[in-house]
Amino acid sequence: MQREISRRSLLIGSAAAAGAVAVGYQFTRSSEPESFDYSRVASDWEALRASFELDPNWVHMAGLLLASHPTPVKLALEKYRDELDKNPAHYYEHHAQQLELGVRQAAARYLNGDAADIALTDSTTMGLGLLYSGLKMKPDQEILTTEHDHSSTHASLAYRSQRTGNEVKRVRLYGDPDKASVSDICERLATAITPATRVIAVTYVHSSTGVRLPISAMAEVVAKANSGRAEEERALLCVDAVHGFASTEIDLQKFGADFLVAGCHKWLFGPRGTGVLWGRREVQEALQPTIPTFSGLSDFGALHTPGGFHSFEHRWALKEAFDLHFALKPARVEERIHELNRQAKEELSKLGVVRLYTPMSDDLSAGLICFDVNGFGPREVVTGLKDKSVIASNTPYRVSYARITPSLLNNSAQVEETIKAIRAL
Ligand SMILES: Cc1ncc(COP(=O)(O)O)c(C=O)c1O
Repeated sequence: MQREISRRSLLIGSAAAAGAVAVGYQFTRSSEPESFDYSRVASDWEALRASFELDPNWVHMAGLLLASHPTPVKLALEKYRDELDKNPAHYYEHHAQQLELGVRQAAARYLNGDAADIALTDSTTMGLGLLYSGLKMKPDQEILTTEHDHSSTHASLAYRSQRTGNEVKRVRLYGDPDKASVSDICERLATAITPATRVIAVTYVHSSTGVRLPISAMAEVVAKANSGRAEEERALLCVDAVHGFASTEIDLQKFGADFLVAGCHKWLFGPRGTGVLWGRREVQEALQPTIPTFSGLSDFGALHTPGGFHSFEHRWALKEAFDLHFALKPARVEERIHELNRQAKEELSKLGVVRLYTPMSDDLSAGLICFDVNGFGPREVVTGLKDKSVIASNTPYRVSYARITPSLLNNSAQVEETIKAIRAL
């Protein structure tokens, strides 16, 4: 039934008007995928939810892990897969460069950036690996990271350090996560930066606690530390932004990072196996490519897009995920996600048996809620919720918590259902 809704009712008439067959699973054979009526889902959260083929028997509260493909992404992906199956060599030869550029342009439009500065990767982890292995550093320069990052950041930095000898230091940016504050985070960062700090490796929204870092305020701290430093001595603010990417509004002109890495197969609902690496124009020289590109272009984005033949249908269909989120409007998406998360946090805090670790404040959180239930380990909470048809996750960190992710995949009734299931534990 859901398939019927997503495919029939959401295909736009324009393709049909142009003489194309736009019904069911049939596709035209032009180089462009079927048009999709973004305006329909852009104004109606339930219509958007209906464009996913998620199993309706579950409440999906682990959306931070891996995306389900919404209709426009699925249509594009199937279209490109069909074309590659028919004639891989010719389709690649005639379309690859243009389609890849189209993805980078759609990303630039969504992020208020420039396509020339955006590279395409396969995941956050690939982007972090490319970034931290490729940054040019003198032997005596240091890397400053935090205690809150994902293993993809810490392992990338450790490999780098093993290869080049650059020391990696860690700072704790807050004590109790629910009591984190912008001023405390900025003070701790300022204290940890030394004249030898060349790379500052942080994570925008911590999947360990749900804390969202105030990146633009932190960028001011870094700018202050950089005043008077020569170009090759300047500290570079590098951000794993995967969990704020499409759950909060990111405007690259204001965000504050020097380099941003994100996977697109989580909150953005891009094809599984996609991601981006962005570099601020003024510091791009600091990054050396690691994997040769096949893109045929020479700007930063092309140069840092790893080459080799790929799962191109996934890469090219990423354009539709950016177009979808552009139509949804980033500020509106952020507000919707805050609204659902506020509802969940307020209800959880009323239960009396739940310890919340994620801050209540919208400014310091985004989409992830980490918590404990008295008398239960995080795994027990996740298992208990599973028995009640709610899919949660537990944080894969040294100190683990239970975690839910109210997102565009959910609505207020599902948040209520989740709280009810937690209460029933
Ligand atoms: C903060 C953070 N960074 C990176 C990753 C890995 O992301 P990807 O699967 O895109 O490599 C995760 C995993 O969800 C994560 O939580």
